[in-house]
Amino acid sequence: MNATLPRYHGWSLFGLLSLLVLLMTGAILLLNPDLVEATRSAIRATARTSFVLFLAAFLASAFAVLVPSPLSKSLVRERRFIGLAFAFSHLVHAVLIYSYGQLNPEFWPGRTTVGNIPGSLGYLFIVLMALTSFKTPAKMIGPKTWKALHVTGMWVLAAVFTYSNFKRIPMSAWYVLPFGMMCAAIALRLVGKLALRNKRSQRHAYS
Ligand code: HEM
Repeated sequence: MNATLPRYHGWSLFGLLSLLVLLMTGAILLLNPDLVEATRSAIRATARTSFVLFLAAFLASAFAVLVPSPLSKSLVRERRFIGLAFAFSHLVHAVLIYSYGQLNPEFWPGRTTVGNIPGSLGYLFIVLMALTSFKTPAKMIGPKTWKALHVTGMWVLAAVFTYSNFKRIPMSAWYVLPFGMMCAAIALRLVGKLALRNKRSQRHAYS
């Protein structure tokens, strides 16, 4: 069994991904002479690392059903650690947002309460999902609530990413790319669910 496991899996995969996020953030902060601008760039960069990690976790089961392969199977197996690495990347996003608020006193007054709702809701789900990815809290809430929380959380985060990218399209047409990627990912996940349901009903019909 162990022979089929990739070199980085479980906590070592989480450690590697988190280290890469930290190295990237450190490099952006060190290489940019203007700390305020550097912090803003690092906020954007961590949003992007989070996006890639989120897509991998969001699409893992759809890939495993639609394109079964050792890679898609290992994505499903490592989903928990990819999800935790996503939470870590977003923790860095939050620390940078806090620092940016300290460096630029106009930042928070320039934002509206309504404008902060999607991001805050996103963070609420990230914290709840990260905490319940450990055995004891997962047992405390039970499998039904766990599933409802994690399924709802994934869709809430998908909605926050879709909205965050969509609202930036007027600033730069490049945001059409992540917006389109998120829309395609939503379609893929739904097709994956349908394919799984079909597979299961066929299995029932022949058993
Ligand atoms: C209240 C919580 C949050 C605040 C205050 C916040 C703040 C920010 C700021 C200041 C930027 C950089 C904007 C710029 O320079 O153009 C940013 C970028 C971004 N954030 Fe957050 N954020 C929050 C939560 C979230 C959450 C929960 C998500 C996703 C689940 C998210 C996704 C993004 C995305 C996709 C970008 C754009 C990155 C890019 O330019 O490619 N944010 N956020």
